[in-house]
Amino acid sequence: MKQFKEIEEKAHAKHVPIMKEEGIEFLSSFIMNHPEIMKILEAGTAVGYSALTMASIRENITIDTLEINEEMISIAKKNIKEREMDDRIFVHQIDAMLYQSAQYYDLFFIDAAKSQYYKYLEHFLPMSYVGSYFVFDNMNFHGIVDDPELSHNRSTLQMTRKLKRFREKILKDERFEHEFHPEIGDGILVLKRIK
Ligand SMILES: C[S@@+](CC[C@H](N)C(=O)[O-])C[C@H]1O[C@@H](n2cnc3c(N)ncnc32)[C@H](O)[C@@H]1O
Repeated sequence: MKQFKEIEEKAHAKHVPIMKEEGIEFLSSFIMNHPEIMKILEAGTAVGYSALTMASIRENITIDTLEINEEMISIAKKNIKEREMDDRIFVHQIDAMLYQSAQYYDLFFIDAAKSQYYKYLEHFLPMSYVGSYFVFDNMNFHGIVDDPELSHNRSTLQMTRKLKRFREKILKDERFEHEFHPEIGDGILVLKRIK
């Protein structure tokens, strides 16, 4: 996203994982095409790149974004304040699994610990309604989910096995309509709650 090029470049320089360009473009057009999306919950703020991009789509969008890493939180808050978006993007220092809210969200963007995707979904479900969307990034995890030979790192392989199980299980889950885009960015899954 050209708009936040500087944040994107700094994130790359510091090896902070942020959404790939194709993924963020998909997410942006998804939000643009769904004007009913106004309240967003994001799990995994990092430096605030995806939150800023989503909030820039329309002025009626507010975002609660959850992050556990203190260094990320201070960078994200600075980036958000500098762009005068701190009245619409609220950074919460909390483990996503502990976040509670009496609010209902129109869209959940899940981009925190990949091995916890199923748990996040179940945890956030009471904050959704029939019609809410859930978007998950990194469903392919650099191709390793489908081709474990690409990694020799034990914890990566453990995580990608979990991602694979999540993918298989969720695509059969009748509580949701599914849209899986393995070819976009690092693999994007969109669920719409229908029950
Ligand atoms: C891939 S990055 C998020 C990128 C960001 N959404 C973007 O595209 O600009 C994932 C972030 O999730 C955070 N994270 C990991 N586990 C978490 C948890 N349990 N709760 C909240 N944040 C978590 C990490 O510290 C990391 O900053």
